[in-house]
Amino acid sequence: MFKIGVLVSGGGSNLQSIIDKSKSGELQCNVEVVIGDRECYGVERAKEAGIDRHVLDRKILKKELCKEIDKIITEKGVELVVLAGFLSIIDEEFVNKWKGKIINIHPSLLPKFGGPGMYGIKVHEAVLKAGEQESGCTVHYVDTGVDSGEIIAQKRVKVLVGDTPETLQKRILMEEHKLLPESIAKIITEKNKGVYS
Ligand code: GRF
Repeated sequence: MFKIGVLVSGGGSNLQSIIDKSKSGELQCNVEVVIGDRECYGVERAKEAGIDRHVLDRKILKKELCKEIDKIITEKGVELVVLAGFLSIIDEEFVNKWKGKIINIHPSLLPKFGGPGMYGIKVHEAVLKAGEQESGCTVHYVDTGVDSGEIIAQKRVKVLVGDTPETLQKRILMEEHKLLPESIAKIITEKNKGVYS
């Protein structure tokens, strides 16, 4: 079974969508380990699902944090690292080592509304402020920039009259829960075809 490691900092609803779909057999992978850079509900979800989990300290040096993550996921034989609401920035050495094997989910139609400081509710506030008629979510490979790696898949969501950042965020999150498992499935299919090394 394809082994994945999930990194979280918050509620972990995207992690839950992967857990549910892998348990139901809809997604052919196994969540080997969940790593939080802080105590958070995402780590609790891993506990409830009986998945090995680690809580690290986001306040330690970025390099040190990445070394710890690298050690854990290497020991677990992880083949794909999924950043699912992970707020710490990953260092260059880690990205280069895991190149093509780290993906991130972002709540906008990248390259729009991405980059440093664009996370959480701020993304949706910026979308509404700019008067966009649609937004959505993106799964992309992680490179050494912020939200700049190759796009794997996107889902579009219409901005509705009367939307607040919170209502838009909620509708997009529901699409994220489909997009992330679909993107992982796509990567697994490519791997099975020998495209992914
Ligand atoms: C999601 O909106 C994701 O796109 C972003 O952080 C949020 C995480 O939500 N990177 P959750 O912790 O999976 O509920």
